[in-house]
Amino acid sequence: MSEGLLVLGIETSCDDSCVAVVDGHFRIRSNVVSSQVEVHRAFGGIVPEVASRRHLEVLPAILHTALKEAGVTLRDIGLVAVTQGPGLLGSLLMGMCLAKALAFALEKPLVAVNHLEGHLFAVRLDNPSANPPFVALIVSGGHTELFAVRDWGNYVLLGRTRDDAAGEAYDKVARLLGLGYPGGPVIDRLSREGDGKRFFFRSGLEDEDTLDFSFSGLKTAVARFFSQLSPEEKRDERLLRDLAASFQESVVRSLVKKAFLAVERTACPALVVGGGVAANRRLREVMEEEGKKRGIRVFFPSRALCTDNAAMIAACGLFHFLRGRRDSLAIDPLPQLSLGSG
Ligand code: KG4
Ligand code: ZN
Repeated sequence: MSEGLLVLGIETSCDDSCVAVVDGHFRIRSNVVSSQVEVHRAFGGIVPEVASRRHLEVLPAILHTALKEAGVTLRDIGLVAVTQGPGLLGSLLMGMCLAKALAFALEKPLVAVNHLEGHLFAVRLDNPSANPPFVALIVSGGHTELFAVRDWGNYVLLGRTRDDAAGEAYDKVARLLGLGYPGGPVIDRLSREGDGKRFFFRSGLEDEDTLDFSFSGLKTAVARFFSQLSPEEKRDERLLRDLAASFQESVVRSLVKKAFLAVERTACPALVVGGGVAANRRLREVMEEEGKKRGIRVFFPSRALCTDNAAMIAACGLFHFLRGRRDSLAIDPLPQLSLGSG
């Protein structure tokens, strides 16, 4: 049934405009991402109205590029998959309007995708051996959640952040230290030359017997520490690198600890990590070391597939389509959509 099928994926849940073409065997034919980082940098964060207007401006060109790179035309597309939520309402609307218009005009089926489930499917594009059962950790700018995945499409929520998401903590701490936006990649880069053992910060709930996370206290601890530095110290690049690395060490320690606690409790043989923060080099390194020590297989999507993209949305849409799912053209965006029961 999937022989010869081409899926058009559209993702606009936040600030990246993404269109991709994936074939019926989960192989990427094109995967175009137009980052809005430059547009939002001046504001130090994402401005929702600006993000949705920007999606509207760039989507036609991105669609054109994705088709061209895949070497196909719209007439070759057999399925349209689009992110329905969670995300920013205005941004989601832009992608969904385009997806619905295309599905209507081409008379092709439409499948709406949960963005978090999409992040999980990124690993399937890279690594066909990453199959359930596994524990999944989704760490992004808006989410830090642990799931037991007994089968694709079957998710039990095990734990989540009680306040800030891990990516949000990276972004806030980077802003605080004057390192710019977005914070994750900057702190990742700076930390490679920093000493993560120089300062010690504890993440909330780190030592408690729970699969929940908490990062807002950590952000406050770094803020308090920074505010007590002298003006000279604040300009000391070595100190800033060490501080960034020490903050990162705390986030990574907490993510690794809870993820393997979930593996232990569920007796799953594998762990999959996805979402923007999964691009973090230190997190990848420590997770893999810990996995080796415990004999647990650890899977990460390639770094480019960790952050928002439409190939993962196309892959997730394809999976549900093959199981018989078809969505109506009357569906609406769901900004608060969650994943899994728990
Ligand atoms: O999944 P994503 O692209 O968008 C959301 O769904 O939120 O994740 C974006 C988040 C941002 O907070 C960004 O700072 C963080 O992922 N991020 C990273 C890295 N690359 C992106 N955090 C740590 N290290 C990175 N290399
Ligand atoms: Zn995301």
